[in-house]
Amino acid sequence: MKPIVYVTRRIPDQGLALVLEHCQAEVWPEETPPPRNVLLEKVRACDGLLSLLTDKVDAELMDAAPRLRVVSNMAVGFDNIDVPAATERGILVGNTPEVLTDTTADFAFALLMAAARRIGEAIDYVRAGRWKTWGPMLLMGHDVHGATLGLIGLGRIGSGVARRAQGFNMRVLYHDVVRRQDLEQQLDITYTDIDTLLAESDFVSLHTPLTPETRHIINADALRKMKPTAVLVNTARGPLVDSQALYAALRDGVIGYAALDVTDPEPIPLDHPLLTLPNCLIVPHIASASVATRGKMAELAARNLIAGLKGELLPTHLNPAALERRRAP
Ligand code: DGY
Repeated sequence: MKPIVYVTRRIPDQGLALVLEHCQAEVWPEETPPPRNVLLEKVRACDGLLSLLTDKVDAELMDAAPRLRVVSNMAVGFDNIDVPAATERGILVGNTPEVLTDTTADFAFALLMAAARRIGEAIDYVRAGRWKTWGPMLLMGHDVHGATLGLIGLGRIGSGVARRAQGFNMRVLYHDVVRRQDLEQQLDITYTDIDTLLAESDFVSLHTPLTPETRHIINADALRKMKPTAVLVNTARGPLVDSQALYAALRDGVIGYAALDVTDPEPIPLDHPLLTLPNCLIVPHIASASVATRGKMAELAARNLIAGLKGELLPTHLNPAALERRRAP
């Protein structure tokens, strides 16, 4: 008999076909995530769960699922999952690192350039019929080449952005909890404390996971330390930034621009003050959304799920210690 799994949204066929081949799967068919009560009900009989970053997988959910042996998150970030609670219960957890690194770094750079050169405003300008002539001072932005980029977080994606910055002859500063001397020469980057990074960067790009320590790492105080022309780019997690403080900083010229792939809350409500600002560009959490990469993420998530159901170490595992306590099928 095939193991029973729940897939919380339709995912690319590259992964879904594998899941359907190995499991008795039910897939939530809607565009928006399954409501909490539905998810709690659905996991009751499940051996495995293929989740997305929009699903909260906490102790309550795990306790509602006495047979659950594996949670496979189709995302590299896993702040939606209580991993220690899973480990305690012998539930294996996996995520999808590596396969999305370059696609996400591409997108962070695209946002950086779009903000620097005011692409969003320029598109709106043309569509609104305001383009009357070539203007000597029309929609002037800031140069990317030769500017200083500050990376907060130098994991895989942060390093990918640093690599792209080399092509634009940028000076790159970084801050991370772990200093990466091994990468400094290779990527031509300089480690600084966070205050120096904020003060000297023309562009600040966030690439750190969301943890209690990094929540609101960009708050009113941090924003005040940035240049008045600085651009903030966030492709990591919305709550790294204090949205109210960011709104005030953009409105009052404390910083120049923000380009956000992620927001807090997410999705951003239509009446959120950030949406009223011309110097804030917001897109709907799509940094990893290329056809090829979403296919690879789905496939890796499926492989993690299947390995966990077999009681094997997941190809990209987050809590190998859970193997020792793993639940019997
Ligand atoms: C992730 O994987 O964590 C991204 O936010 C979505 O690809």
